[in-house]
Amino acid sequence: MTQPIAILGALEAEIEALKAVMQDCKATAWQQTTFYEGLLFGQRVVLAQSGVGKVMAAMVTQKLLDSYQPQYLLFTGVAGGLHPDYAIGDIVIAKDCVQHDMDAIELGFPRGQVPYTEYRYLATDAVLRALALTTTTPHPLHEGRILTGDHFMTKKALHDYRYLTEELAGDAVEMEGAAVGLVCTYNQVPFLIIRTLSDKANEAATVNFLEFLPVVAANSFAIIEHLLSSHQTI
Ligand code: ADE
Repeated sequence: MTQPIAILGALEAEIEALKAVMQDCKATAWQQTTFYEGLLFGQRVVLAQSGVGKVMAAMVTQKLLDSYQPQYLLFTGVAGGLHPDYAIGDIVIAKDCVQHDMDAIELGFPRGQVPYTEYRYLATDAVLRALALTTTTPHPLHEGRILTGDHFMTKKALHDYRYLTEELAGDAVEMEGAAVGLVCTYNQVPFLIIRTLSDKANEAATVNFLEFLPVVAANSFAIIEHLLSSHQTI
């Protein structure tokens, strides 16, 4: 049997549109997580909600890789925009991702680098990324760098954390991508992170996040449909 394609999102709102169109869906529970196996746009997939933050994302990703041996993994959800030209509703296709709160600088490691390893900027799969960028969508698509940390970023924080853009050159910030990316890289499984902007990581971020999450969470639906429908060309 062909290996499935894995799809993860942190919150229910970030995967519900995909779950709604899955066919022949079989649910398997593991602790508080449910894995949904079925058909999506003609492909075998396994879909799950990771929960919020790096630990939840890493834990569920490793379990998913061990249990289902997917060909590749797509992570979908929302993020806060850091790039000044990006607007709420725009979609960021990650070229790479990094843990912005990994800080062992005092030990001589650059910000974002996992100490005593080469893991810092984790590259997404070039073929998946190029294909995702050819999707026709009503929302602007950007190829950018995703920063990940266990911190919901607002302007107040940004004042103290200018390194997000100045040092790490981040385009969007969220709370799971680089954790998923590190687990996938470690396991040699190709991955792609697709994020729609729910806010601009500024003083309005909390209000915008709550308002726009349900509205924009499905923006990346078209990317996943395009990737799965074009699957045979990957
Ligand atoms: N996800 C969506 N918006 C975010 C923000 N401002 N900070 C961290 N994660 C986010």
